[in-house]
Amino acid sequence: MGRFDSGITPEDLQKRSPRPFESPWGAIALLTTPNGPACIQAFCPHMEGPLAEGTVAGGEIVCPWHLWSFSLDDGSHLGPTQEPSCSIEVFAVELGPEGTFLVEPR
Ligand code: FES
Repeated sequence: MGRFDSGITPEDLQKRSPRPFESPWGAIALLTTPNGPACIQAFCPHMEGPLAEGTVAGGEIVCPWHLWSFSLDDGSHLGPTQEPSCSIEVFAVELGPEGTFLVEPR
């Protein structure tokens, strides 16, 4: 499967972030970051917390439930360090010709 059209416009995302939606890869979410739009799996690999609603800073997102953090670049688990074996799905984001965000796995 190639790129998936989220149906979400930059204006939609500006009004409310994160924007979760169903995709061929499961529940994922677009969110705004200081570096532009990002797209990740919507729920945390720890206990299914609302990861996309976490705090974004310095290229990482911190889950609001137990504060596990993940890289927005490659999905790697950044902390807590005693639980290094999980990562998250991170998706490439691009604005399509219809003015909506297209996403695909990195
Ligand atoms: S559910 Fe996300 S850190 Fe626990």
